[in-house]
Amino acid sequence: MSGWIEVVAGSMYSGKTEELIRRVRRAQYAKLKVQVFKPIIDQRYHQTNVTSHNQNQVEATPLANIHDVWDHLADDTKVVAFDEGQFFTMELVPVCRDLAARGVRVIISGLDMDWKGQPFEPIPTLMAIAEDVTKHRAICTKCGELATYTQKIGGSADSQIEVGSQQFYEARCRLHFRPVVEALDESSRAEMTLTI
Ligand code: ADP
Ligand code: TMP
Ligand code: MG
Repeated sequence: MSGWIEVVAGSMYSGKTEELIRRVRRAQYAKLKVQVFKPIIDQRYHQTNVTSHNQNQVEATPLANIHDVWDHLADDTKVVAFDEGQFFTMELVPVCRDLAARGVRVIISGLDMDWKGQPFEPIPTLMAIAEDVTKHRAICTKCGELATYTQKIGGSADSQIEVGSQQFYEARCRLHFRPVVEALDESSRAEMTLTI
């Protein structure tokens, strides 16, 4: 049987990890062998488990390099899921193709845009070659409309990659997004300290 590629894309807080966990659980109910992988650099909530912002979790194997997946892959695995696909580099693309060619259902979740509002590879390329693409949206922290962007509100302005959550990033709609590190005013910062 031929495999296929599914991508779950969107901004931060849009429910990508929740959706990945939902698909993994459904495959497990179908008694299919599932393996979940995440990049080793994402240890925000748990060292190994894939964890959503609201603490939903599923067991996963952290990878330092995407090619390490071949060392962990079991012969009878039918479904492979990658969370935080944006951190695996473009090398994720041939790996997903190869897995699908072997008959595996491949699920990737990740950011389609970075904090500058630019395409965040390899997710846009994977969206192009996937059989199925879902784009999720969060809620804009400024106005409550649907959010497609991730606003950077702290941390470094020098790099595309910086692991973090509410201390660095907020979900924003097109109207309220700016491609800069937007410093929070003091009252918002105090409010955030209370909620983190
Ligand atoms: P993602 O992986 O896309 O960043 P998660 O699946 O980890 O998202 O988390 C989604 C959860 O984040 C939501 O169900 C909600 O509980 C929480 N959340 C926090 N901030 C927001 C927001 N601005 N918009 C929507 N959900 C949010
Ligand atoms: P999330 O989509 O599951 O919330 O996680 C996104 C991760 O990506 C989080 O660790 C922050 C990081 N990130 C970057 O490294 N660069 C970016 O431009 C953005 C928006 C997020
Ligand atoms: Mg996530």
